[in-house]
Amino acid sequence: MPIGVDIELAIQLLREGKLVAIPTETVYGLAANGLDENAVTSIYKAKNRPFFDPLILHCATIQMVERITSRITEDARKLAETFWPGPLTLLLPKANEVPYLVTSGSYFVAVRIPKHPLTLSILKELDFPLAAPSANPFKYISPTKAIHVAQQLGNQVDYILDGGECSVGIESTIVDCNQEQPIILRLGGLKIDDIEMCLGKKVLLQTQENSNPKAPGQMDKHYAPITPIYLVDNIETYLKENYNLNIGALTFGATKIDSPNTINLSASGNLDEAARQLFSSLRKLDDQKYNRIIVQLLPNEGLGIAINDRLKRAAAKE
Ligand code: TXA
Ligand code: MG
Repeated sequence: MPIGVDIELAIQLLREGKLVAIPTETVYGLAANGLDENAVTSIYKAKNRPFFDPLILHCATIQMVERITSRITEDARKLAETFWPGPLTLLLPKANEVPYLVTSGSYFVAVRIPKHPLTLSILKELDFPLAAPSANPFKYISPTKAIHVAQQLGNQVDYILDGGECSVGIESTIVDCNQEQPIILRLGGLKIDDIEMCLGKKVLLQTQENSNPKAPGQMDKHYAPITPIYLVDNIETYLKENYNLNIGALTFGATKIDSPNTINLSASGNLDEAARQLFSSLRKLDDQKYNRIIVQLLPNEGLGIAINDRLKRAAAKE
């Protein structure tokens, strides 16, 4: 599988219904023609993803979004105008053209305009949207560098477009504004505060329901490394009490912990930096084959809320 920056090749492969990994500001996506059922099927297969977990459609323009959806509420339009291109995904009623395979049978389709120059230039050349889930095997950590995709899905993709390291580092925030009260279906790279400020109203968080959730990808166990991960109250104490174990730790902010088995997400305590570093740090710790990885929850504000959501899911037992 070649990795490179050949936009023309990527466009040609996508027109042929092939799979191309694409960079976005959030995480890398595993992309294919979102209106072609065969191409979409190959995404599910490559990821080993169940068909009941629907895919996001990526567009370059609001015109394309309007083509693949049937109604955009005023709230949805406000968010789109303010935050696109950016880490926002809107759930909108789908147009007939969108296969139910993309939405797992739902009348609603998840749509976003990503913010990455390479991917936007490809999308502008295509007359179809790109279906793209995060380019990782089902349930594993999302990729934030081209090499992550190569390591895990290298044999399944026809080309990996290398757009460098993702600038946000965690997935998009998914919002349903089809009713009066906007609902957050997945916490992500766009902060709740910014959404509420834009709409001038409170949003409802509906990210913990797992029985029959609107975003079926929001299962308990998700974003997980292979090494068992534990949420602890205090990393320092835990390390002292379990000195006999081979433990890797993910820390944040100023800390006195002096162990080579530790990665700090942001020594200066910056939550945006922590989001950017989160998945690649978890991968690095996972590669060390520790007995376990321990982590403490971050301050529950700004992107810390979405980071904590991922840490809890990564630590959840099956
Ligand atoms: O930042 C992102 O959103 C990245 C980049 C590549 O765009 N994509 C991403 O896709 O995270 P994925 O497939 O890993 O996660 C998409 C989530 C899943 O939890 C899925 O269940 C939910 O979006 N979703 C997609 N379509 C939906 C729909 N029609 N209704 C409800 N939830 C949907
Ligand atoms: Mg994913």
